[in-house]
Amino acid sequence: MGVKWVCVFLVAGLILSIADLGNCGRTSSYVRNDDLAHDMSLDSDVFRVPPGYNAPQQVHITQGDHEGRGVIVSWVTPDKPGSSTVLYWAENSSSKNIAEGIVLTYKYFNYTSGFIHHCTISDLEFDTKYYYEVGTGNTTRQFWFVTPPKVGPDVPYVFGLIAGDLGQTRDSNRTLTHYELNPTKGQTVLFVGDLSYADAYPFHDNRRWDTWGRFTERNAAYQPWIWTAGNHEIDFAPQIGEFRPFKPYTHRYHVPYRASGSTSPFWYSIKRASTYIIVMASYSAFGKYTPQYKWLEKELPRVNRTETPWLIVVVHCPLYNSYAHHYMEGETMRVIYEKWFVEFKVDVVFAGHVHAYERSERVSNIAYNVVNGLCTPISDQSAPVYITIGDGGNLEGLVTEYALFC
Ligand SMILES: [Fe+2]
Repeated sequence: MGVKWVCVFLVAGLILSIADLGNCGRTSSYVRNDDLAHDMSLDSDVFRVPPGYNAPQQVHITQGDHEGRGVIVSWVTPDKPGSSTVLYWAENSSSKNIAEGIVLTYKYFNYTSGFIHHCTISDLEFDTKYYYEVGTGNTTRQFWFVTPPKVGPDVPYVFGLIAGDLGQTRDSNRTLTHYELNPTKGQTVLFVGDLSYADAYPFHDNRRWDTWGRFTERNAAYQPWIWTAGNHEIDFAPQIGEFRPFKPYTHRYHVPYRASGSTSPFWYSIKRASTYIIVMASYSAFGKYTPQYKWLEKELPRVNRTETPWLIVVVHCPLYNSYAHHYMEGETMRVIYEKWFVEFKVDVVFAGHVHAYERSERVSNIAYNVVNGLCTPISDQSAPVYITIGDGGNLEGLVTEYALFC
């Protein structure tokens, strides 16, 4: 098939290169500091508000369709709604195009959000650099992105995996910088969930969602981040009258879930280059007959491996985890879905949540039926490799203790 892939592993970041062997990456020795870290202060320069009246901030992009010809551009204006228009043009084109978006706000306890804009740009050319501009009518800001090549089996592509659970400490900043400086340049980030850790603050201080958006803009405005919801996105706080789970996350981070027939932004799929990526939801119902279950039941047989030979699942809570922290939390999902991952030969399952790194061999544990005693994972070449990349630098620190096995 002429396609190879290589992973560059490190505790806090990883590059997955789906490319010819000649383009392979190198293993990095970077390991984050294992001290408990504090969040960067609100006046830190990485959180700087861009100058100018009503200047767009927290700009970020993600894939906007199933094939890679669409981009969702999101940003926040602080003073008034302003325009939800995105002006965009191909690098070598003299004609400019306009796409109209929407604007949202939300309240969370005593916090009122800025004006959150989402605009989907469609029908872009593959493998093309585009410039885009937001803030029409007031302070405008310009960014750029490169669309992926047309989907196909022999298309090289480099995914970046900044470890999940990123947060906003100095270690988080080092992780992002390390990713940016990696000589094997990632083209799209697969983000495994737990973004801002705003819920670590009294009343889930949503200003920390804003600082996180400004912190990550320097990368997320220029390459798509493929979002996965983690437990720190739930923001369920009935004690302060916040009963709607995922309220800040769903207002701020839009994903193209409808394009894959999903009915929820928490589970969806995209194709990108030679890869089919399925995002699953650890914190939405996933038992038999639930919407997520029924969607995945139809989704997996639909993956055409001659078109996209690489099949990757991204989910927040790992299905296999040897660390004491969060031990067995992914077991219910494993019991339900592992047999499908084996049947459909998923290549890799990436997860976060556990603040550590771990990579399995290809194993499965699907033969057990309560009475046959076959409850130990076995080597299985049809099974995925399970990779935990769960520490991007958040304030909770690294996990090093393994679970005790008897
Ligand atoms: Fe988590």
